[in-house]
Amino acid sequence: MQRRDFLAAAGAGAAVLWARAGAWAAPAASAAARATVLLDEPIATIAPEIYGHFTENLGGVIYGGVWVGERSPTPNFGGIRRALVEKLRAIHAPVIRWPGGCFADSYDWRDGVGPPAKRPTRTNFWAGSARGLHDAPQQFDPNRFGTAEFCRFCRLSGARPYLAANVRSLPPLVFDQWVEYCNAPAGSTTWARVRAADGSAAPCGVEYWGIGNESWGCGGDFTPGEYAAEYRRFTSWVPRYGVPLKLIASGPNADDVAWTTGFFENILGRRPIAPPFGWSVHNYTFGGDALRFTAGQAYAEFVRGFSTEKVLRDHWAAMGAFDRKRRVKLVVDEYGAWHRGGTAPAAEDIFGQQITMQDAILTAFTLDIFNRNADKVALAACAQLINCINSLFLARGAEFLTTPNYHVFDLYAPHQGAQAVRAEFAAPEIHFGRGQSFWGLNGSASRQGGVVTLTMVNPNQSTPAETVLALPGAAVRAVSARVLTGPDIHAHNTFAQPDAVAPQPLAAVREGGRVRCTLPPASVTALRMTL
Ligand code: AHR
Repeated sequence: MQRRDFLAAAGAGAAVLWARAGAWAAPAASAAARATVLLDEPIATIAPEIYGHFTENLGGVIYGGVWVGERSPTPNFGGIRRALVEKLRAIHAPVIRWPGGCFADSYDWRDGVGPPAKRPTRTNFWAGSARGLHDAPQQFDPNRFGTAEFCRFCRLSGARPYLAANVRSLPPLVFDQWVEYCNAPAGSTTWARVRAADGSAAPCGVEYWGIGNESWGCGGDFTPGEYAAEYRRFTSWVPRYGVPLKLIASGPNADDVAWTTGFFENILGRRPIAPPFGWSVHNYTFGGDALRFTAGQAYAEFVRGFSTEKVLRDHWAAMGAFDRKRRVKLVVDEYGAWHRGGTAPAAEDIFGQQITMQDAILTAFTLDIFNRNADKVALAACAQLINCINSLFLARGAEFLTTPNYHVFDLYAPHQGAQAVRAEFAAPEIHFGRGQSFWGLNGSASRQGGVVTLTMVNPNQSTPAETVLALPGAAVRAVSARVLTGPDIHAHNTFAQPDAVAPQPLAAVREGGRVRCTLPPASVTALRMTL
């Protein structure tokens, strides 16, 4: 029996399992599960920008990942990896953040504009942490990829640029001039003319600007009060050139609510200023080896990853004490499963790691969390796009592959811009370790016109979930489903087998106003239901 047949059979309710290393296991018992989509309980429109990405001048992300060079044998659009652009278009990538991350607060954007041959080579911020890479090109930044190249990458990919300003080591005037380079009308200023010479006479129209990055850490080691003072200096009189700037303040790490409170009581307290568009939150899930882990370690990783929902709600509650009209939204511009290094295709890929179904499951339920909190989250960026932590792509020279995370973004793309509605999920809990437990089914739902998208995660590594879907008050006329799973949770793609993990059709049957389907163990499923 082929894997495809298993998926179809599972959809019909058969309880056979494709086990580790392709061997057959005894039929597993199925768990009875329920999902209810409450169409009359809308949450908010899901900002397409929740499905955004992050690229940093770090290891193999930009050089070797995004940028291959104009003369490269790797197919490219003026130096930018062509396959990457095409894949980003396919998943409707809405926004891409650059140049960092920690790199941003050591970066002088002026080094990366003007004639490429005249651009300086600098020591990369990450050189010190690039263990054993003393001779690798990644320890230096040739500045061949600068603002114009980044904006072109975004344009080609159909995404909007999101730039992070250097607050730690440059003054606000240099930030003002970066905005001028990007947004001043054609021919109006010297920086606009430099931009034109770099290939973009028309303004880039950059709306999203991060005011620093992790200002509590690599972005300056500020206290909340000190950072708030910097935020005032950087944003009070920034030139706008008619572009509706969306300024994003450097928020907390994980659940550091004191940082949130300290910042907001300063800027919205006795001498208030205009609130930022967004409050950046970084929330990584730190785990062990990307490829070697036990079932229990995977569940423990899920427990840690699922804390994102509490983190978001905690910051939201803290912000509400000062921002009563809820003008500021959350921007989760770095998240993902961060494993020990050593499993990436190339040694110079700092923080590079393979991506398995474990990561895909964590990414999927994180996106479900964002959808469920669509009233609070305005933008998110998965860290990082290629050759790094929790990546959607891996590349080595001309070799290029999509990871299971890419397929999650593909399955979830119909949520972009749709109306999030509340959904309830019920399935037996998973028990593991010493008295620990994790939910057995979760997901999110949205509606666009007459079509409902329901995404669901079955994290159970041994038991399929026989799921009955109900949409009270609605009749489902047609349903289609796709599922992402593998022989087991360690499944991943390699250059030799780039499609080992890819979405497959899943049988979903309409039955008396309900829909039935069987979600394979360790899987991510997307259903599209026409009402
Ligand atoms: O994504 C890697 C690093 O993690 C980023 O540069 C930084 O912002 C975070 O600590």
